[in-house]
Amino acid sequence: MENFNAPIGVFDSGVGGLTVAREIIRQLPQESVVYFGDTARVPYGSKSKDTIIRYSRQICRFLLTKKVKAIVIACNTASAFALDTVEKELDIPVIGVVKPGAKTAIETTKNKRIGIIGTEGTIKSELYTKFIQGIDPEIEVIGKACPLFCPLVEEGMLHDPVTDEIASRYLKDLKKENIDSLILGCTHYPLLRSTVGKIMGPDVNLVNPAYETAVSLGKLLQEQGICAEKNHESTYRFYVSDAEEKFKAFANSIMPFEADSIEQINIEEY
Ligand code: DGL
Repeated sequence: MENFNAPIGVFDSGVGGLTVAREIIRQLPQESVVYFGDTARVPYGSKSKDTIIRYSRQICRFLLTKKVKAIVIACNTASAFALDTVEKELDIPVIGVVKPGAKTAIETTKNKRIGIIGTEGTIKSELYTKFIQGIDPEIEVIGKACPLFCPLVEEGMLHDPVTDEIASRYLKDLKKENIDSLILGCTHYPLLRSTVGKIMGPDVNLVNPAYETAVSLGKLLQEQGICAEKNHESTYRFYVSDAEEKFKAFANSIMPFEADSIEQINIEEY
């Protein structure tokens, strides 16, 4: 018997996936969420595929102990490297952020030139490119890794001259590529939206995969007939593998409510 009101499991390498959780909570307010941030092992962006698959398997096993009815991989790097593997291994639905983000960019571009910024892992995997060109081979995809963006966001330097300078350097070449859509292909990057937008200019449409992932999740829950009941009182629980207090401060700066249920766990036990 399905438990419609069971939570959605959402995970990321750390705090970035909160931008996805925030969108799920906004679009699907009746759904409960169990979020796991792998703050002990962040960043994922510079690690190998095998390592990310191992981490993702452990996290899925942990989330299953919380009786989640579906899992959202709210991390571009883990979606790129581990989605196919864990999707096959689990008997609940699993979605990542790459496909929903890529789909929106395809729908948005008029000149068939899309830019993608992300971690080294995401850009090197070329998963966005493969997915986009699998749907429309005429689309040109230009990628750029921006490894310093994540630490800048985590330091809270969202509006800072140092961030502006680094962003200008990273985006300098992309600006010459005549792209009309730019995918913010890392969970931290929507928090730098205004900085990136200022540099790229008004003719470049910024695509935030978090929004489209929440839309896809809503559709998936409906298709599978596992939506929470309309009057269900949702709950939000957060787990981390390290630095609970730092996570709490970050969560409270971006979530629309006080994140008070945060617990540190040992993910290596799963
Ligand atoms: N959450 C990761 C992503 O979206 C970025 C941070 C990291 O490198 O772990 O790719």
